[in-house]
Amino acid sequence: MPQLHPVCKVGEIPLGESIVVTLNKKEVAVFHDDGKFYAIDDMCPHAGASLSGGHVENGTVTCPWHAWCFRLTDGARINSPKVKTACYSVEIIGDVLHVAVPDKPE
Ligand code: FES
Repeated sequence: MPQLHPVCKVGEIPLGESIVVTLNKKEVAVFHDDGKFYAIDDMCPHAGASLSGGHVENGTVTCPWHAWCFRLTDGARINSPKVKTACYSVEIIGDVLHVAVPDKPE
């Protein structure tokens, strides 16, 4: 069962930027794009780059190492959707962002 974890206040992630938080021993990147917030695994499934360092635009993040592009809504690679990174739901409670991750690492 996923557990909600508070990660930061809404205003702490500027538009087009991200933060990385450790939740249940996983590095999770939380992005702010176009007024919405998204959370996916920070580690790129290709070769392990930190996706939080990628370019965010139009609901996607582009990996800084080899430019694989992932949809922030479900973690799927744009040109090869069978390749995915884990995706987590984000809730805003008051002015605090919360990310839901499973109790145990997968
Ligand atoms: S490490 Fe992300 S595309 Fe290669």
